[in-house]
Amino acid sequence: MNTLTALAWSDRLLTGVPEIDEQHRILVHTLNEAASKLGHDPSLELLESITQDLLSYALYHFETEEALMLEYGYVADDDAHQRHLEEHRVFSAQVVGIRTDLKSGILIAPQQLLDFLNKWLAGHIMHTDQRLAAFILARRQGR
Ligand SMILES: [Fe+2]
Repeated sequence: MNTLTALAWSDRLLTGVPEIDEQHRILVHTLNEAASKLGHDPSLELLESITQDLLSYALYHFETEEALMLEYGYVADDDAHQRHLEEHRVFSAQVVGIRTDLKSGILIAPQQLLDFLNKWLAGHIMHTDQRLAAFILARRQGR
């Protein structure tokens, strides 16, 4: 059995927007579960099911954020809005690419997969999502 590095939840990951934070907690929990399962069983089947579940939850989560962007007029901050959408698209395409490789029998090393996911999620939350959240919170407070 291998001990794989997961992403530790920390208050640094909080955005202050409850519905976004709730989904981020679920994503971090999903990555931790993936690390623990892959440590026992780094099989193709498990890699396929983990990347599938993660992709579907990530897409649902991106839809939530993108609906909030529209609701709060984040398009007004056009550059940040476009960059945010782009990060979501690139991430989804990268996970689809990993899944395409898996289907042709090219296995990603579990720690390499987790490093990519952990790093992307933490980086995206702490830069891109926190910027969106600050915009939403300001609007909610009538500023
Ligand atoms: Fe996001």
